[in-house]
Amino acid sequence: MTPSATSFPQEISITRPDDWHLHLRDGAALASVLPHTAAQFARAIVMPNLKPPVTTTEQAGAYRQRILAALPAGMRFEPLMTLYLTNNTPPDEIRRAKDSGFIHAVKLYPAGATTNSDAGVTDLRLCYKTLEVMQEVGLPFLVHGEVTDPEIDLFDREAVFIERVLQPLRKDMPELKVVFEHITTSEAAAYVTQASGPIAATITAHHLLYNRNEIFKGGIRPHYYCLPVLKRESHRLALVQAATSGNPRFFLGTDSAPHAKGVKENACGCAGCYTALHAMELYTQAFDQAGALDKLEAFASFNGPAFYNLPRNTGRISLKREDWTLPAELPFVDSSIVPLNGGETIHWKMLAE
Ligand code: DOR
Ligand code: ZN
Repeated sequence: MTPSATSFPQEISITRPDDWHLHLRDGAALASVLPHTAAQFARAIVMPNLKPPVTTTEQAGAYRQRILAALPAGMRFEPLMTLYLTNNTPPDEIRRAKDSGFIHAVKLYPAGATTNSDAGVTDLRLCYKTLEVMQEVGLPFLVHGEVTDPEIDLFDREAVFIERVLQPLRKDMPELKVVFEHITTSEAAAYVTQASGPIAATITAHHLLYNRNEIFKGGIRPHYYCLPVLKRESHRLALVQAATSGNPRFFLGTDSAPHAKGVKENACGCAGCYTALHAMELYTQAFDQAGALDKLEAFASFNGPAFYNLPRNTGRISLKREDWTLPAELPFVDSSIVPLNGGETIHWKMLAE
């Protein structure tokens, strides 16, 4: 049977998308990466794991100004700021954050779970007064959903987090809006699908496209190392199913996390995949492979704003089915960054506006 033109469109056009989970860093690094995101997305939820972390409304306001100042002339982009939760975040800080109008969420890094998480939370029960205010004012709680217990196998940390942390929290605070960030397992996809109350999840492009074999193909490949780490194929398939299901609880979050080449290609390499340059191409490829291009727009452009109570974007973007080679390296501060798929052929290309 000849495939019809409708099942293999050569070009797609969707409402301009947003990135609901992004690392922009600061200073010269910020200036290197921001144009990539601003070319693809109208807005992004900006992660607060700077050194030192963004823990107050005042710091978030100053960081927001630095982001806007780093935006090249003529580009439009709205940073949606977040606070980094610590054991000592006062409940009043949540009210200040909500009143600011520019802070849209608070992020949980379990202490020791990932990059710059040392100041993170050691026991969520220490934060209950603060979380209660978030529940009251409707400020979403973004969770890096992994336990840090060294007894738990690295590949099981997300599933154990659901049992040990997420279920008890949501039982105690059923109205707290929660985003289970960068989910990587069938357990997380099933939990978010079945749970009651205000919960959603972001899914990265790399977790939709790759399983853990990719990290070890022909040798150790550090640019495929991120946290939570890629999982086995059955989990990837569950994530693709969730993302393409049309369920509004799932939306786009790249978790693009720039690190200089030298700290990735290292005896103790940093976690993070850089996808800001070509995120929409990768998501389109993943949805295309699943025969679900018609589900991309809701995942990328509708479900996120609905959860965050923000308007949809009004502009549009287009992508064309076209092979092109991604640069092997990109300029980054005084060194370079190796994007995910650097030097490889990509099958979709975003068209200039
Ligand atoms: O791979 C990751 N990189 N996972 C995270 O949770 C943090 C991020 C980063 O900031 O580099
Ligand atoms: Zn992240």
